[in-house]
Parts: sequence; structure tokens; C-alpha cells
Amino acid sequence: MIPSRPFRLLINRHAGTPGIAVLPEGGWRRAHAAITAWSGYLPTPLRDLPDVAAAARVAQVLYKDEGGRFGLGSFKALGGAFAVMKLLQAELARRRVANSASGADLEAGRFRETTQAITVTCATDGNHGRSVAWGAQRFGARCVIWVHEHVSQGRRDAIAAYGAEIRVVPGNYDDAVRAAQAEADRQGWFVVSDTSYEGYTEVPRDVMQGYRLMAEEAVRDLPAPPTHVFIQGGVGGVAAAVSVQIRARFPKAVPKLVVVEPDKAACLLASAEAGQPTTIAGDLDTLMAGLACGEPSLLAWQELERGAAAFMAVPDAAAVDCMRLLARREAPVVAGESAVAGLAGLLLAAREPYARAALGLEEDSRVLLFGTEGATDPALYAQLLEGQG
Ligand SMILES: Cc1ncc(COP(=O)(O)O)c(C=O)c1O
Repeated sequence: MIPSRPFRLLINRHAGTPGIAVLPEGGWRRAHAAITAWSGYLPTPLRDLPDVAAAARVAQVLYKDEGGRFGLGSFKALGGAFAVMKLLQAELARRRVANSASGADLEAGRFRETTQAITVTCATDGNHGRSVAWGAQRFGARCVIWVHEHVSQGRRDAIAAYGAEIRVVPGNYDDAVRAAQAEADRQGWFVVSDTSYEGYTEVPRDVMQGYRLMAEEAVRDLPAPPTHVFIQGGVGGVAAAVSVQIRARFPKAVPKLVVVEPDKAACLLASAEAGQPTTIAGDLDTLMAGLACGEPSLLAWQELERGAAAFMAVPDAAAVDCMRLLARREAPVVAGESAVAGLAGLLLAAREPYARAALGLEEDSRVLLFGTEGATDPALYAQLLEGQG
């Protein structure tokens, strides 16, 4: 069990109310067909964690381990790279070069003359940029990735390894988002963002459709429907994708979705409190780098405002506790800082009677977690594991 830590919990009064379909099923079917056809595609494992279930006093805890996804270390490989592929296909059609180029055509470099003159760009805390850079390399486009000053050298190097040019800006993730957009406007580049806002939804919608594959694989491997799903939130894209997929797959008894954020960057919880998308200020300097976002994604919010049963905010220390807990099991699981917020939320809530009751966590509950990354920054991972706990 991990030590007690302070956390916040907000039950969503609007959970389950009807709303718009943020991720249409046709787009999901195309994402599923395309990504499962990429060379090297393999579903990631769903791990049973009976020791964690015992600690949380629930019947079962299953952990979808994304550490091995396409060799990139996180689920993000499914989103950004898919959006790059879609964008290049659309550009080839618009320029009347090819009406229906396939992913395999692009991978084979069949339209390289055109695609290499197209530049894709984005801001990132690490994992999304890695996916976009990998997608650009794989499908033959040029790539420029923007990071803020707090993104570690290890993460910058990992992106550069896929041939992308790295540009660093002062400030936080949201500053990098603005810098990427401004330069793209000047240069005629294509922004492949994982966050959406008024007037910019098409690309992030593709990104989220790609993420749904992670949830779909998990659902297919489940021995029984889960009662609860705990998922970490940055801008909310992955939580929303999971929400859409579990609502589609378990329409009669929708599992309770609990969105867990770092307490230093809890923009989704703040939005739920305010009843509208809310930006939080500050330098968002959480250890959970992938979750260091102050502005919710518009599309994600439109799903989560009624799809999430609850929102939680947990401290960095709880993430480190959980990384160590997983690493020191008899069957170790390697989980990066941003992978374990959901687990931290479960374990912290499970020990507090009021939180157990509010979330309906019982001894027969079956919980699904998404371990969204492995050790994406190996040096930082080693350093965090060294401490006591
Ligand atoms: C490992 C990991 N988990 C979760 C997230 C959160 O995803 P989103 O920003 O879509 O909420 C990220 C985002 O970068 C991430 O890298």
C-alpha cells in the first residue's frame, strides 16, 4: 500500500446526461483499420495486479501497459502519428497527387516528392511530439517539434532521434502550443496538436480516434466488464477517448470513469468545478510531465463533462509511490511518472471511507487502469526509483 497523501475528489453532477457525439463511429472504424495495418502493430498487454487489488480492497485491478507501444514507450504513438498520416493523405488528395493513398503507400515512400515538402509541427511535453516525429519519419514528411524549457533533455533527444528539428521556448506547455501555431501560420506548416480549441478540432479528433484503439484492445481482453476506470488527464484527450469507447462497449452498465490529474495541473477538475472549460495559471511544474497542462481540450471537455463520474487531483509524491510500488512487485511493471496518476487515484481513494462511498468502490469492484507510458525518460525514471518508499 502507498502512504496516505492529500487529494481532491469531485463527483460530477452531470455524469450520464446526454450530449453530442464527439468522436463519430465512422472515424473510429477508419482509425482502427489503418493503425492495426501499420507494420509492427501489436496490442499491448493487460496485466492483472492482484496485490494492488488486495491493497485497494477491490476484486480485481487490471492494468493496460502501454510501455511497449510501437517501441515509442507510450500510448501516444496511436494518436499523433495517425493524425500525421491522415493529414498527408488529405494533402495528397487536395493537391491532386493521389485520391486515396494508403498508409502502406506512404510508408513505401510512393509520394515522397510531395510529402517531403510538407512540414508538420506541434508542441509537446514529450510523448505527443515523439509520436508526431515518428509519424512524419514513417510517412515521409518534414517535422519541427516545440518543447518548453522544462522538458528534459532525455525527452528532447528521443524526439530528435526520429529526425525532427527541436525548438525550445521559455514558459510552459501552453506557451509552446502558442509558439508552434504562430510559426506554422508564418511558414504554412501544419499543426498536429493533441489539444483542440474553437476552430481547430479536425486533427485532434483524429488523434483521439487513434487513442480509442488502446481502450478497445483493453475491452477485448477483459474477463468481465469493469465497474470503474481510472485514467489520467492532461488536456483530457485520452480520458475522453476512453470514455467514448467504454460508453460504446458497455452501454447498459457504463463503468464509472474517474479522471485523475496532478494537483499542480488540474484543469479538468477546475473545469468541472466551474461548469465550463477553465484554464488554470501557473508554471504547472508537476513531475507528471505528460499531464502538465493548464487548458482542457475543447473536444475532450465536451465528452468528459458528462462522461466522467468524478475528477481527482493527486500530488506528485503519490505518483512516485506508485512507480515504486509497481517496480518492486514480484512481477515488476515499468511505469513512467505520467502513467500512474490513475493508480494513485485508486489507491488514495480506496483507503478513505468517504471517497470509497462516493465512488461506489466495493470489495467486488473490478477496476481498469491505463498505464499510459513506460520509462519514457530512463534517467529520470532511475533517479525517482532510487529513493526510499
Ligand atoms: C503518458 C501520458 N499519459 C497521459 C497523458 C494525457 O493525455 P491527454 O493530454 O490527452 O489528457 C499524456 C499526455 O501527454 C501522456 O504522455
